[in-house]
Amino acid sequence: METTINQEQQTSARPGRGRLILRFLKGSKAFFIICMLCAALSALADMVTPQIIRVTVDHILGAAPAETLSPAVRSLLDAFGGAEVLRDRLWIMALAVVAVAIVKVAAQYGFRVTNVRGGETLVKTMRDTLYRHIERLPFQWHMQHHTGDIIQRCTSDIETTRNFISEQLTSLIRILIMLVMSMVFMLGMNVPLTLIAMLPLPVIVWYSVFFHHKFRKGFEECDENEGKLSAMVQENLTGVRVVRAFGRERYERARFGAQNEYYTSLWVKLGRLMAFFWSSADILSGVQIMLVVVFGVLYCLRGDMTSGEFIAFVSYNGMLVWPVRQLGRMISEMSKAGVGIDRIGYIMDAEEEQDLPGASEPPLDGDIRFEHVSFAYEGCPEMLHDIDLTIPAGSTLGILGGTGSGKSTLMYLLDRLYPLPEGSGRITVGGVDIRNIKLDHLRRNIGIVLQEPFLFSRTLRENLAITSPDLSEEELHSAARTACLEETVAGFSKGYDTFVGERGVTLSGGQKQRAAIARMLTRRTPIMIFDDSLSAVDTETDAKIRSALEKRFGSATIILISHRITTLSKADRVLVLDHGAVAQFGTPKELSAQPGLYRQIEAIQSSVPEDAPAKEVTK
Ligand SMILES: Nc1ncnc2c1ncn2[C@@H]1O[C@H](COP(=O)(O)OP(=O)(O)OP(=O)(O)O)[C@@H](O)[C@H]1O
Ligand SMILES: [Mg+2]
Repeated sequence: METTINQEQQTSARPGRGRLILRFLKGSKAFFIICMLCAALSALADMVTPQIIRVTVDHILGAAPAETLSPAVRSLLDAFGGAEVLRDRLWIMALAVVAVAIVKVAAQYGFRVTNVRGGETLVKTMRDTLYRHIERLPFQWHMQHHTGDIIQRCTSDIETTRNFISEQLTSLIRILIMLVMSMVFMLGMNVPLTLIAMLPLPVIVWYSVFFHHKFRKGFEECDENEGKLSAMVQENLTGVRVVRAFGRERYERARFGAQNEYYTSLWVKLGRLMAFFWSSADILSGVQIMLVVVFGVLYCLRGDMTSGEFIAFVSYNGMLVWPVRQLGRMISEMSKAGVGIDRIGYIMDAEEEQDLPGASEPPLDGDIRFEHVSFAYEGCPEMLHDIDLTIPAGSTLGILGGTGSGKSTLMYLLDRLYPLPEGSGRITVGGVDIRNIKLDHLRRNIGIVLQEPFLFSRTLRENLAITSPDLSEEELHSAARTACLEETVAGFSKGYDTFVGERGVTLSGGQKQRAAIARMLTRRTPIMIFDDSLSAVDTETDAKIRSALEKRFGSATIILISHRITTLSKADRVLVLDHGAVAQFGTPKELSAQPGLYRQIEAIQSSVPEDAPAKEVTK
């Protein structure tokens, strides 16, 4: 029952995003601080050049009185011999411009280097934190979300967040510095003209903010649909065999094509909106520049302003308009980043699996008790009804039941892959409620071979030793022998070092099941669960594996889910489940003697040859 994470879900938990960013900034904060200092230095250098030009034009080339200069600039000019001397040595002023340019280049170099270091460190921290968090999220959460969508959040949303911090945030600092400093310099030269220049600015900012709301919505929609597209691709690649086997390529292509077209149309729509914004914002800034030039010329003609001041003023105005326009862009980009951070935040807000306070690590070799257990999957009607049974320690329980009768679910509850809510009964091992057992301890002591075994794209050895990395060669062979996997491995030229899965040897269904059994056997767990794990092996191998298991683990409590009566008949007790309720419970002999599903299946299966595939129970 997978669900797509919708917008409501992702935007519902906004608070705490600042804290989340701070958490991600661990290790990269220092780089970004240096980076911002460099940005400030570079902005300062930008401010100084027009001043050098103004002094050169007005005081060195022109004859403006030195008294109009600030004391600091005057003493600097005097240090070089005063305006008169500098008029003959104009190269000194040119050199000053070059020196400022060098400072700016150095600042920019520092900015780039620290920005890249900070950005990469940030992305690494984000990836690590997210991966670690996702690994600890409950199985239930994983079942409810599309893998493709999660991957998209861990790739492109991380990228958006990095851009926000390493580019937009540092640019914002630079922009603010430039805004404040140009205003200070402009006010110092001509107050009325500065006020005229500032008049249209609020309109420009308001215009940007107005559009930013629209952009934010657009980005949200785009991101959500990118997630859907990724999920579609991921699902199709994983299920490539099904797609081919059913000749669904054309259908899948059409489905992808439709989603892709819709996704593209969203970007085009957003692009059109942005193009409109940028062009119309150009008109606004054009009007602002026009006002400054017209009034500036008038002030010059009236003699209220020198030519040098006018040149510097227009330069500063350029530095003012650019940041204001960038501010608009920043706001829209920030809205995109906001969406990305929210989408990551949605994952980070999901609660990790946690032990209850006081959870213990008791030995798990006692009786297993299901006490009036009822269970419903989230948003679904109840599907396990009042299950009450005891599995004595060291015994073997067989479970038989129709498809969907709740056999696997019962095992998931025992392994706490799904939590059993309070008031829905309890499951105990050796008298201890499994809710009070440390999760890690519980799972380490329950060996489970899932119904659909999954092998990683690694070597067979790595797959088998996944839970015990320091597994000895002898133990590895012994587990493989018990699972009747040795012969299969002997057939591979590289033996246990054969790469399986994608880009490696593809194992057959039965081989995969045996590998999964061997993997479980590498650990000596007091509880072992085989969820229909022998369905794809022939009856003879099934019997061999079971007898090897008996020899190997005399004392373990074994739960065997199977549709095969020959398998179940060796169990100490058999539970027959029917639509989530206990229909029969007893020894195979007892069940064989009473009317019911067990006897029905026994009759069907005893009339077919021994090694024919087990008939599926459908009820
Ligand atoms: N994650 C889930 N969310 C919602 N419903 C689920 C989920 N997993 C299983 N179910 C439903 O719960 C019921 C029991 O499923 P379960 O896998 O336990 O059956 P089963 O007895 O193991 O069947 P089979 O013999 O086919 O393996 C089914 O109706 C199934 O549709
Ligand atoms: Mg099942």
